Amino acid sequence: MTASGIHPSAVEAFTAQERERFLANNPNSVALAERARKSLYGGVPMHWMADWSTPVPLFVERAKGARFYDVDGHEYIDFCLGDTGTMFGHSPDPIARALTEQASNGLTTMLPGEDAVVCGELLAERFGLPYWQVTATATDANRYVLRWARAVTGRKTLLVFDGCYHGTVDDVMVRYRNGRTVPRSGLIGQAYDLTEYSRAIPFNDVAALEAALAEGDVCALLCEPAMTNIGMVLPEPGFLQQCRELTRQYGVLLIIDETHTISTDIGGCTRLWNLEPDFFVIGKPIAGGVPCGVFGCSAEIAERMHTAREQAQAHSHGHGHSGMGTTLSANALAMHCMRANLEQVMTSAAYAHMLPLAKRLADGLRRLIAGHDLKWSVTELGARCEFQFCPAPPKTGAEAEAAFHDELQMALHLYLINRGILITPFHNMTLCCLDTTKADVDRLIATLDNALTDLLALPNARI
Ligand SMILES: Cc1ncc(COP(=O)(O)O)c(C=O)c1O
Repeated sequence: MTASGIHPSAVEAFTAQERERFLANNPNSVALAERARKSLYGGVPMHWMADWSTPVPLFVERAKGARFYDVDGHEYIDFCLGDTGTMFGHSPDPIARALTEQASNGLTTMLPGEDAVVCGELLAERFGLPYWQVTATATDANRYVLRWARAVTGRKTLLVFDGCYHGTVDDVMVRYRNGRTVPRSGLIGQAYDLTEYSRAIPFNDVAALEAALAEGDVCALLCEPAMTNIGMVLPEPGFLQQCRELTRQYGVLLIIDETHTISTDIGGCTRLWNLEPDFFVIGKPIAGGVPCGVFGCSAEIAERMHTAREQAQAHSHGHGHSGMGTTLSANALAMHCMRANLEQVMTSAAYAHMLPLAKRLADGLRRLIAGHDLKWSVTELGARCEFQFCPAPPKTGAEAEAAFHDELQMALHLYLINRGILITPFHNMTLCCLDTTKADVDRLIATLDNALTDLLALPNARI
């Protein structure tokens, strides 16, 4: 039984047609896939790139704005946008210029330049936290923030919401099952018990939150303002305020990860909803698509970090290691691009373009779903929009996960790819960027409409 209301046999037949179509239309991707299998593990540079809906990976030739082009010469409207990595469009002109400017001026020196200072100032002004650090990815930012949180509180346990994703940080790879924290399934090479110092609770559950905090061993609550990696789950009115009040009450730090929720506003939900975090994390689009992450903290936390660092140094007699940082963190290229991005790309004007488009898309999807008499829902978060195979928007990660129908999701994605449209893999998320047009949005809606018409016309498609 699937929550989607679509019979698995119809999805199977539909998928078979679409796979055939893809293979026939993409000979160059097929040939590259065959060649890649001889040198790349799994035929891809990162193993999960083989997990998309296509029968072989779709090889990209180039991308610009809201479009990319594959090696077989097809053009795509991109609503995935590197899963937020290029949320403002591929290779925006100011980023392309910044890359060119820095290209012959040194890429990495392990020393700061003026760009770093400007970025610190811009980040402080935008996100309202005074002190900043720069990392290579959002994963790293979360990892280091967690170390700092443990150091300054003297407590070890991390609290997260069930269904969360904050990058490949070991400590967040836990789930909540039957009232208990368990390791996330599928982890490879896990050596130690993740549940020893991590606890998961359901999102939007104030009682569970208070009970977890009352244990007295929690250093920090790490969360997205809305869950975006298990489908999308919005906070109930007042829930985030409760998170802030209760974490303060129990001396627990609040870490807000805005890597995806930056889709809402130039200051993220933090600014929009006045969240007052102790730490703020963002990566992905912050340097316009060039690898980079940042984290900010309050003045009080910076003071406590200073004390913790002095203590660690005193114990290490000058030969210790903080356990944080990578050689290429805050390199000159990333800093120059982040500056260009903050100054010229990630602007209020960009959001003024993107937000109404996402609204148009969400409204169109709702009409389309109703028109096909499907019991699915649509959730919006600024420039981000998601359709889920459940009648009402989910309130917890578990509800969102229960609505998954992976085969159906893959089948619809493949249908769209075969007709020149890409949405985010593994769930049904879309982003509108600076270069997305109304016509692009309407084409996605019309193509999905055709997909559902074709699917539902198959024998016994509805359960
Ligand atoms: C909310 C959130 N935080 C952090 C990350 C990690 O980002 P990266 O993979 O760029 O390190 C992700 C990745 O999807 C994310 O969704």
